[in-house]
Amino acid sequence: MKKILITGGAGFIGSHLLKLLIRKYPDYHMVNLDKLTYAGNLENLKSIENASNYTFVKGDIVIRDFIQKLFEEHQFYAVIHLAAESHVDRSILAPNEFIETNILGTFNLLHAAKTTWNEKDEHIFYHVSTDEVFGSLGESGYFLETSSYDPRSPYSASKASSDHLVRAYFHTYNLPVKISNCSNNYGPYQFPEKLLPLMINNIKNEKPLPVYGRGLNVRDWLWVEDHAAAIDEIFHRGSFGETYNIGGKNEWKNIDIVTKLCQIMDQKLGRETGESAGLITYVKDRAGHDQRYAIDPSKLENDLGWSPSLTFEEGLEKTVDWYLENEEWMNRVTSGAYKSYYEKQYTKREA
Ligand code: NAD
Ligand code: DAU
Repeated sequence: MKKILITGGAGFIGSHLLKLLIRKYPDYHMVNLDKLTYAGNLENLKSIENASNYTFVKGDIVIRDFIQKLFEEHQFYAVIHLAAESHVDRSILAPNEFIETNILGTFNLLHAAKTTWNEKDEHIFYHVSTDEVFGSLGESGYFLETSSYDPRSPYSASKASSDHLVRAYFHTYNLPVKISNCSNNYGPYQFPEKLLPLMINNIKNEKPLPVYGRGLNVRDWLWVEDHAAAIDEIFHRGSFGETYNIGGKNEWKNIDIVTKLCQIMDQKLGRETGESAGLITYVKDRAGHDQRYAIDPSKLENDLGWSPSLTFEEGLEKTVDWYLENEEWMNRVTSGAYKSYYEKQYTKREA
């Protein structure tokens, strides 16, 4: 059995990816390494927790000796690295953990792979990254694999750093790496600090909907299972040393997406048309707020035949339904430490 290390498998994207791989590849044994930060939640993995080809390990990628021992013990065939601090607003408030997890943690994994893998054997080190490394677009143009790196937030700078390290290990040490840079994901199990689940939760609870600045920033949205499917394709058929951009050609201004969510939820919650939109509140803009992200996914489409499976309308419907049906999940993840962070943040912005 090939053992594959997934880091960050208890998070939003990692949990969808694990569920896909565990079902589709019974011949792989998946080892999920996760620190279970506020964003990691084993509840996201309930449906596969007893699978015979799955093991969970609680641990921190920043602890070098622990990572080294894990690689020596398991002799992994491959790594799919998702563990990260992932929220831009948090990186602005407290960048330390972003530097540690996203840069040092990635370095520790690369070092362990380099020192425990034999060059003659077949291995894969797959690094999951973001389109934010390319910076901010104006009204036109798209991010290509060849676009220059121009990160502007501590989060995107830390991810850019990790991408550079991964590429350096390919060129310097022949480590068999693959990288993908994806646009904004949405879907079930996303932590409600991110735009869509935050808005859905606030609409439901009739709380203000905090739109940053004038709401005119543009993001390119992709259904999370389509990201997982793209990772599967690239992991199995992508070329070593290459980068693949992943995106669904689905650009939306923030204010339009929030308005659309309000319309969908007015209907689902039996409210008057326009009632939820009354909750929209323009708040202080995010510092250094990137104006527009837009991915050109032609390489992935042409080389590997990947394409998104859902329209945005279908995806949004499914997403809203999931959060409405999973009130307990939402209540649990928004209690405790997260609650005080959210309340502090929100009060600050309104003031
Ligand atoms: P997430 O915040 O939901 O999950 C991150 C996971 O990593 C959590 O389970 C957390 O417990 C774990 N983790 C954090 N620090 C760790 C550490 N030091 N050691 C071990 N585990 C640790 O993030 P996500 O949205 O699922 O993103 C996953 C990856 O995909 C990240 O690398 C992110 O940069 C990238 N990405 C995300 C998006 C998006 O829209 N969410 C888009 C493109 C790329
Ligand atoms: O593009 C990929 C990236 O997408 C990933 O690498 C990140 O991990 C992921 O968090 C996401 O980053 P964004 O900053 O684009 O996502 P977020 O959901 O935080 O914000 C989306 C947009 O909505 C952004 O323009 C800021 C705005 N926003 C966000 C929040 C949380 C608001 O207007 N109000 C809010 O309350």
